[in-house]
Amino acid sequence: MIKKAILPVAGLGTRFLPASKSIPKEMVTVVDRPAIEYVVKEAVAAGIEQIILVTHSAKGAIENYFDRHFELETTLREKKKFDLLAEITQIIPDNVQVVSVRQAQPLGLGHAVLCAKQLIGQDDFAVLLPDVLVRHKTTQHKNDLAQMMTRFQHTHAAQIMVEAVAADLVDQYGIVDVVEQPAEGQSVLMRGIVEKPAVGTAPSNLSVVGRYILPAKIMQLLENTPKGAGNEIQLTDAIAMLQQDESVEAYRMQGQTFDCGNKLGYLKAVLHYAVDHPTLGADFKAMIAELGL
Ligand code: G1P
Repeated sequence: MIKKAILPVAGLGTRFLPASKSIPKEMVTVVDRPAIEYVVKEAVAAGIEQIILVTHSAKGAIENYFDRHFELETTLREKKKFDLLAEITQIIPDNVQVVSVRQAQPLGLGHAVLCAKQLIGQDDFAVLLPDVLVRHKTTQHKNDLAQMMTRFQHTHAAQIMVEAVAADLVDQYGIVDVVEQPAEGQSVLMRGIVEKPAVGTAPSNLSVVGRYILPAKIMQLLENTPKGAGNEIQLTDAIAMLQQDESVEAYRMQGQTFDCGNKLGYLKAVLHYAVDHPTLGADFKAMIAELGL
């Protein structure tokens, strides 16, 4: 069973300036909670019990958010604001632990994952990139990450979550080469994977979303991964090496993604999550209608 998830959060978020100048981009609010909470909850919903933040000295606010806040709790209790008290103490269930390790140098995503090597030990694990929010369809029995975990349990093939992108956007993502086009919710054998191929050279239109189920042995491969695209140690390159030795599968997601790493993607996320919000949604929809766009 996969119980550990690595969330690389050390990036400085230059695509999100000025907001990310003095708060971590992961703490920017999507409706009424920081973006990172949605990602942690996605992992927890799939059965993850240890969240490993690979973080940076400027990002203490993320760890604080998942910690208890004694003064605030005492004040809320004294003021009998029990709903709010429950809300801030139940962000993650008691059986879930959030731990962190520092990425001392910005050497790339592969390097960030490698920073968690000691905490991972011999365990297979998940990786969730927190820029991307994944919303599952209401018709889905379990979320996409959970589906990947079940598949991994049966086949022991690493699972890489993908979705189709427009041909002119392939140079922004990892792109997979697959033996056949997978249906949504299906895993198929991967023949290759390449980081940010030039437009017109990509092996498919299936882009890496930022959700991975990986075997512990990928850590050894990461130790031997040379710098690649962008002069960084790429997780994609280590996965390509893994795939030389054993089966790796691309899992085509069923849910919807929002790339909060860029401003328009973030606004789209706010719009969708606000419209569906249990208490704010109806009024928010009325506000949009008032705009008469
Ligand atoms: C990273 C990965 C890339 C993936 C993308 C998803 O790139 O390296 O393979 O497609 O996340 O968001 P980054 O966006 O960090 O440049």
